[in-house]
Amino acid sequence: MRSSIPSILSTLAVASSALAAPTASAAAVETRTLDELHQAALKEGGVVTLWHGGDEKYQQDGLKQAFEKRFPGMTLNSTVDLSKYHDTRLDEQIAANNVYVDSIVLQTLHDYPRWKDQGVLMEYKPQNFESIAEPFKDADGAYYGYAIFGWSTTWNTQKYNGALRDFKDALKPELKDKLILTYPNDDDAVLYAFDLVIKTLGVEWFDSLLTQNPTWVRGSATPGTQLSLANTSYVATFGTGGRSGGGIVNTTRPTDAPFVTWPQTAAILKDAPHPEGAKLLHNWLLSDEKLFASPQWTVRTDAPSNFPNIFEEKNTNVTGFREFMLDRANVERVRFWFETRLGTAQGLSPLEDAL
Ligand SMILES: *[C@@H]1O[C@H](CO)[C@@H](O)[C@H](O)[C@H]1NC(C)=O
Ligand SMILES: *[C@@H]1O[C@H](CO)[C@@H](O)[C@H](O)[C@H]1NC(C)=O
Ligand SMILES: *[C@@H]1O[C@H](CO)[C@@H](O)[C@H](O)[C@H]1NC(C)=O
Ligand SMILES: *[C@@H]1O[C@H](CO)[C@@H](O)[C@H](O)[C@H]1NC(C)=O
Repeated sequence: MRSSIPSILSTLAVASSALAAPTASAAAVETRTLDELHQAALKEGGVVTLWHGGDEKYQQDGLKQAFEKRFPGMTLNSTVDLSKYHDTRLDEQIAANNVYVDSIVLQTLHDYPRWKDQGVLMEYKPQNFESIAEPFKDADGAYYGYAIFGWSTTWNTQKYNGALRDFKDALKPELKDKLILTYPNDDDAVLYAFDLVIKTLGVEWFDSLLTQNPTWVRGSATPGTQLSLANTSYVATFGTGGRSGGGIVNTTRPTDAPFVTWPQTAAILKDAPHPEGAKLLHNWLLSDEKLFASPQWTVRTDAPSNFPNIFEEKNTNVTGFREFMLDRANVERVRFWFETRLGTAQGLSPLEDAL
């Protein structure tokens, strides 16, 4: 029964696209194998330029190494920057008619529908496109989630014999002066994290948090990095990327208020200089070999049965972030609510600071 529903839907989709004008962009799903795509990408020049959202330059080094190892002769020319800066620079390329990026993978989910409307994204469906959960993808293949990202609570197990399991635990007296947190007014996913907690635990929770005198930093990776240093004076964080720092830090999913998860979303530019390289990258990102290597949340609905299902996860709504991001007026109001209390984010770009 479960498998017959998608097949009815796809029959309807075929029927409606047959009725539509023949120019309608009913891009077919890629049929070439990874090896065939690899050959096409090599012929094209063997490069793919990727702009990936993030806040440390090294964050996609692992992706680059794995891609280049898997596809000899290919170069993944990857640049990490905050999604909110990558999107601005991409808009400049688009405006100047000088697109030199092939693939973008950003947290700014609100940009994708706009770029699609502008006609600057390639409508392309990689292999396994049909298995991507509906809420994560554009029906025409202009963009789609490839991985589930989320924020957790994290603490240093050597400096703290308690635990930061729930958001309320941050108010424990022993954590005074020992919390390190990312400015919510500097990153919209962190902003959403705080917004969700306050909606559940109230402004009182946030006011009490401020009396704990937390240290506020730029960059969602910075707290985890600080906590994994042997000489750290910080003990715990939340609302940021977890980090399994060689057994020094532990991380978990809070239960007393929702935590943030979202589909990190990818697209290929219509004017990409290396379209075959970008297609190879995207097919690989969505492949069994990449996604099903070990149990984790996934954007695909056909994962092995031992994989956790993000839609069944308690205390997180994986589709909520996109909705939050699309309402820019609300995002601005929430951001300035925090900025009124915290001031503007201080410090160097998290890509330039030492940690
Ligand atoms: C690599 O990426 C950078 C930054 O996006 C870009 O300026 C450069 O042209 C790219 N190199 C190649 C070989 O495409
Ligand atoms: C902590 O250790 C790092 C190197 O791991 C060093 O750069 C830093 O100066 C040390 N900080 C303190 C306060 O000792
Ligand atoms: C990490 O936290 C989890 C959840 O609270 C707990 O079950 C586990 O024992 C902890 N591990 C370590 C190494 O502290
Ligand atoms: C999750 O969020 C979406 C978008 O805000 C909303 O439509 C949906 O009802 C939410 N689901 C649950 C189970 O709360």
